[in-house]
Amino acid sequence: MLLIQSPAEMTRFVLKQKSRGKTIGFVPTMGFLHEGHLSLFQKAQETSDCVVASVFVNPTQFGDRDDYMHYPQDTERDARLAGEAGVAALFLPKEQDIYPNGTAVTVKVNAGTDVLCGKSRPGHFDGVATVLTKLFHIVRPDRVYFGMKDAQQVAIVENLIKAFHFSIHLFRCPIVREPDGLARSSRNVRLNDEERREAVDLSRGLQQGLHLIQSGERDFEKIIESVTDYYHTHLKLGKIDYVDVLNYPELRRVHKRLSGSFIIAAAVKYKHARLIDNVTGDTENMPLSTGNQS
Ligand code: PAF
Repeated sequence: MLLIQSPAEMTRFVLKQKSRGKTIGFVPTMGFLHEGHLSLFQKAQETSDCVVASVFVNPTQFGDRDDYMHYPQDTERDARLAGEAGVAALFLPKEQDIYPNGTAVTVKVNAGTDVLCGKSRPGHFDGVATVLTKLFHIVRPDRVYFGMKDAQQVAIVENLIKAFHFSIHLFRCPIVREPDGLARSSRNVRLNDEERREAVDLSRGLQQGLHLIQSGERDFEKIIESVTDYYHTHLKLGKIDYVDVLNYPELRRVHKRLSGSFIIAAAVKYKHARLIDNVTGDTENMPLSTGNQS
């Protein structure tokens, strides 16, 4: 596996692959790779000729300096795991490589950011859209692979691809969970033992909301209330950041009552980690799944 720091070298590599008729599958990450990332690499292997991944902790998507400074990193381990997973080239740029003129030019996202993580992390998705626009220009992927744990990010990246006419197909990949149901995340290592035991209730609360929908409930507020009540009963250490039910990928309530494809999403704050999770489904297509794939 090639380790590449320079954007120009990265572009040269992919253009060479393309000139040989190969399709480029790209998995952008912020590193500290886990099973969730490995499942994206695997999907990329199955559906693209040449897999490229990036590890870059993007400063512009962190509102909280402390969160940015403490974001877990282990580049050596990341490189080993990516190599074992068949990644052909790992792009490891430095901040100056991606932001040569700082934030002189950035991307602003105007839809889908007033809810969920966009509401509690103002500017976050502008940072994500900015870095992905840069990475897409450098890596020139034919296909990109995103995990549905960050379902709002998936919806926003789909809009970005459409808005800027990128010729890229986005694969929505299912959430990968620990055996007890906790969604895999690089942030899980920042939980202490007690918090880790409790964190499993994040997904259990969402399942309660899902069962309510499966049993026929279509009132947005009642579903939100049921999940919120579950958290109030079960979470002693974590503080609810948000619980919401929306149509997906619209990220709003399309009708007064829930119908069609939806997301139940929640975020919970622990001392050193903010966890997010969701389930998606479709009222027209029961029983429902816990993560889509296209
Ligand atoms: O999901 C992430 O890890 C990041 O938001 C991404 C897509 C790599 C952009 O920095």
